[in-house]
Amino acid sequence: MITDIVIGLQHGDEGKGKVTHHLLKNGEYTHCIRFNGGQNAGHTIYHNGDKIITHAIPAGVFFNVKSIIGSGCVLNIDKLYNEIDKLTSAGVDVRSNLKIAANAHIITEEHLNEDAKDNSIGTTKSGNGPAYRDKYARRGVRAGDIGDLRPFLIDMVEELYYGNEKTAVLMEGAQGFWLDPDWGDYPFVTSSHCGVAAAIQNGINPRSLRNVWGIAKIYETYVGKRSFQPEGEVFENIQRVGKEYGATTGRVRQCNWLNMKQLLHAFVMNGVNKLIFNKMDVLQEVGEWGIIQPDQIFNSEEQMREYLESVFSPHAEIFFSFSPEFV
Ligand code: IMP
Ligand code: MG
Repeated sequence: MITDIVIGLQHGDEGKGKVTHHLLKNGEYTHCIRFNGGQNAGHTIYHNGDKIITHAIPAGVFFNVKSIIGSGCVLNIDKLYNEIDKLTSAGVDVRSNLKIAANAHIITEEHLNEDAKDNSIGTTKSGNGPAYRDKYARRGVRAGDIGDLRPFLIDMVEELYYGNEKTAVLMEGAQGFWLDPDWGDYPFVTSSHCGVAAAIQNGINPRSLRNVWGIAKIYETYVGKRSFQPEGEVFENIQRVGKEYGATTGRVRQCNWLNMKQLLHAFVMNGVNKLIFNKMDVLQEVGEWGIIQPDQIFNSEEQMREYLESVFSPHAEIFFSFSPEFV
């Protein structure tokens, strides 16, 4: 068994969906697994020139790779069917490829109603927090309890260990390490873990781990109630040029320079060996380059790249990438 993991190193929206979609092109993977979160996620994917936003369904469906909504996920059934329909009408064969772990949890109407009242965290109102709370309070409903889902249900142990002769898994993370309930900006976090441990918790043999793809944007963004964006025209420019609106809720994403301290924490704690900086083109157009913690403004893109290479390249392979394509 081989496992590669794609995780976000910031506050979500780093471009994980795009990277997962790109990595699947090599045809090596037998499975693609979403391992955390629910439909609070929004992965913007460009497939054959079409822009498609996925929320629960792993990007494997675009390549006829078995795509599992894993045991670590929570799932809203109505939204799932909408997503299946949307992808199916875009010509994607979802029904043959989509699988749902029988022990994934269900987001109920009550969860949605409760989350709709949130006004302290700035949640996506997807029912995520209440669904995970009920999971851990041992009163949740699981996918295996829902008759309608039967055609999709799988036992992840059977699927990963007693099916294919050789299993090669790509784990598609949602959210980002700074939204992790333990390691993020608590309480301004999501309700499922967002790092490699969360991926492994989906029944993955830890010794099968090969690559950890850590995804960052070349600047920070955040959506939620916390005040995040400093004063300054440059941040408004980044927001505008980067089209920084939430893929799930349409809210404006607050922007800041790349936070080195947070990035390093996420990098070392997750054993990242492949590091991608996305959306380089945005700062190219804005024409300014900087970091915080430590605070530094660079004279040029080249200077910033050299700085990042000096910090990270002893430990990981670094890639600089552009939106929307992963190059
Ligand atoms: P929840 O996950 O909907 O409960 O939201 C908790 C916090 O995580 C809020 O600040 C959300 O904006 C943020 N969040 C949740 N999912 C995502 C995501 O996929 N991208 C960016 N932010 C997210
Ligand atoms: Mg997103």
